[in-house]
Amino acid sequence: MTATTTMPAALLPLLRQTADLPRLTQPAIVAVAVVYFAVVAAISIYSFLRFRARPDDDSDGPPIHGHTGLEIAWSAVPAVLVTAISIASAVALARNENSPPDRLKIEVVAQQFAWTFKYPQNGNVTSTELRLPVHRSTQLDLRAIDVIHSFWVPEFGQKQDAVPGIVTHLVITPTKVGSYPLICTELCGLGHALMRSQAIVMQPAAFRKWAADAKAGVSGANAGKAAFNNNGCGGCHAFTPAGSQATVGPNLDQLADDAKKAGQPLEEFTRASIVNPDAYVAKGYPRNVMPTFSQLPKSQLDALVQYLTQTGKKGSS
Ligand code: CUA
Repeated sequence: MTATTTMPAALLPLLRQTADLPRLTQPAIVAVAVVYFAVVAAISIYSFLRFRARPDDDSDGPPIHGHTGLEIAWSAVPAVLVTAISIASAVALARNENSPPDRLKIEVVAQQFAWTFKYPQNGNVTSTELRLPVHRSTQLDLRAIDVIHSFWVPEFGQKQDAVPGIVTHLVITPTKVGSYPLICTELCGLGHALMRSQAIVMQPAAFRKWAADAKAGVSGANAGKAAFNNNGCGGCHAFTPAGSQATVGPNLDQLADDAKKAGQPLEEFTRASIVNPDAYVAKGYPRNVMPTFSQLPKSQLDALVQYLTQTGKKGSS
């Protein structure tokens, strides 16, 4: 009954987030779990107190044989409960999959150790946070670049693996505005525990504004800076023009020097380092830490390279 005993804490947020059938079934599941927990705890505590050995009692306990009636009961009751919960969940999931076809589509890319969200219906803008309009049916298409990852926002009530070589899907319709933790739940390497982001459920107007601003940034004069910010570069790298001071990865103000050390033209060096971070690893930094950004649309990649090489040059000279 591990599924039932661990359920209540995980289920409470679902009462807020999912629609229709789950709203009816989840309080029932919580109620069952609470009753089960109370019964098991009560029997355990009673047994610990009632049947504990006295300090001077060195004798064997009485021989006990099976109890057919009890065994049938403790097998049949959980079997019925779990089957009922499975059927209710299957119905809810099937209904969920049948949501209207005009879904918002978001491409989710998982890699060691970062999430990227791309919005093909909004000018291919990318984000390191999952932004969603409330009450809109949304389809997530999940891909993994390297190893298996698993997408989980506990409040959405569903989990889906991202598996290299195939595209998996998840359909959700968020019903409550807010910010929810987004977690990788497949042990995917050293940085697994850090592979976290946020799912931000927004009012439709706020979402439209965010998408329009992001799109304008992607195609406008600040495209490079937008790409830098949207892809979380500043989370690891210092780069004065962007105002970032992180020290996880090499300082990008010294890009020109690093390119010289690698014996590469600055622009090629920069592009290669974004698409294939292990091509030239700066001295003192481990390999396999920076995720690849080969999935970036070419226009954004070009803008990012331009931003890093041109504003950076000015900054360092
Ligand atoms: Cu990705 Cu754990």
